[in-house]
Amino acid sequence: LGAPVRAAHGQIPADIACAADYERHAIHHIEAHAWRHIQGGADQNLTLTHNRQAWDGLRLLPQPIADLGHAHTRTTLLGHDLASPILLAPVAYQCLAHPEGELATVRAATALQTGMLVSTLSSYTLEDIAQAGKAAAAEMGQGAPRWFQLYLQPDRAHSLQLIRRAEAAGYTAIVWTVDASIKRSGFALPYGVEAANLRDMPHTTHTSALQGPILFGTPLMQQAPSWDDLRWLRARTQLPLIVKGILSPAQARQVVAYGADALVVSNHGGRVLDGVVSPVEVLPAIAAAVGAGTPLLVDSGVRYGTDVVKALALGAHAVLIGRPQMHALATAGLLGVAHLLHLLRAELELAMAHLGCARVADITPDILWPR
Ligand code: FNR
Repeated sequence: LGAPVRAAHGQIPADIACAADYERHAIHHIEAHAWRHIQGGADQNLTLTHNRQAWDGLRLLPQPIADLGHAHTRTTLLGHDLASPILLAPVAYQCLAHPEGELATVRAATALQTGMLVSTLSSYTLEDIAQAGKAAAAEMGQGAPRWFQLYLQPDRAHSLQLIRRAEAAGYTAIVWTVDASIKRSGFALPYGVEAANLRDMPHTTHTSALQGPILFGTPLMQQAPSWDDLRWLRARTQLPLIVKGILSPAQARQVVAYGADALVVSNHGGRVLDGVVSPVEVLPAIAAAVGAGTPLLVDSGVRYGTDVVKALALGAHAVLIGRPQMHALATAGLLGVAHLLHLLRAELELAMAHLGCARVADITPDILWPR
């Protein structure tokens, strides 16, 4: 038996000074198997380790003399006003971190006017999460967009059902994740945590899909995303379509040519294929390939406000935060996630102030040295 798992605090621990501090608390609040599943990367963790090194390897060039009287971090993305260019990545099974799971996360995101991407594999239904977000928005007099992250299902009729349910529940974009349909993991969900959206559909949870050594020619291979899937998806919804998990500049250009409205440049937090490039390295080439008209979001290893400015300097319009939301959720529930988002925004403001950027649009390659 491992050490007992502590329930989340009802308040924010006093020794949390920056967003990344939540990680060392969270290990005490998450069961050991789930912790390894959340934290882990593929194989040797090459990609996982490299994701941090890539952000850390960039150097900022301060411009301390600046006019910052009216500075702010607000931005717009796909027609939505956001408090900052920081959004919550789709993270499955948030009940692994806290019994209130995605319901707590969506309330925190609403309070902090932060966009949330809700996973196909959420532990509450997409309808319940939307409802919690709407109720919080009504109470606080402000809202934040919710986008639905889609994993295509073995049966297209079921994928279409998920899209229609997301549209009906008020989600304002579909985010199709293409980099994780085929994935190796031995993690089994603990009792009481399930893929709530998929209750009535036959499905693999993507966490235990690959049992044997052979892949080609198996039914699992049919779940690998195809250009035909993208054509099909584009024709099925009027909502903006975002494709998540692109690293190749050539594929980025092609995905946009097929009608995608935005991309998430991501290696899935180093969880899928080991030895993959970091989004940091390919971002400038992808920005050049797709041109200025296509919003680029980036994730994988973003932990600090300084990472956010680096991402924007390299051509991203916004970043997504993955694992840290589980860390904050496990440590202090809704309060923890709200505090995490507040801290990240404060870190972003600090970085912008030192770099002489009064607006998100002022964050250009000029803030990096060498450029
Ligand atoms: C994920 N990610 C993910 N992505 C997705 O499109 N659908 C999903 O259901 C999940 N689920 C999921 C679970 C867990 C535990 C993790 C850690 C990640 C990937 C996620 O959206 C994002 O790309 C990465 O987490 C970003 O990297 P960082 O911020 O965790 O380093």
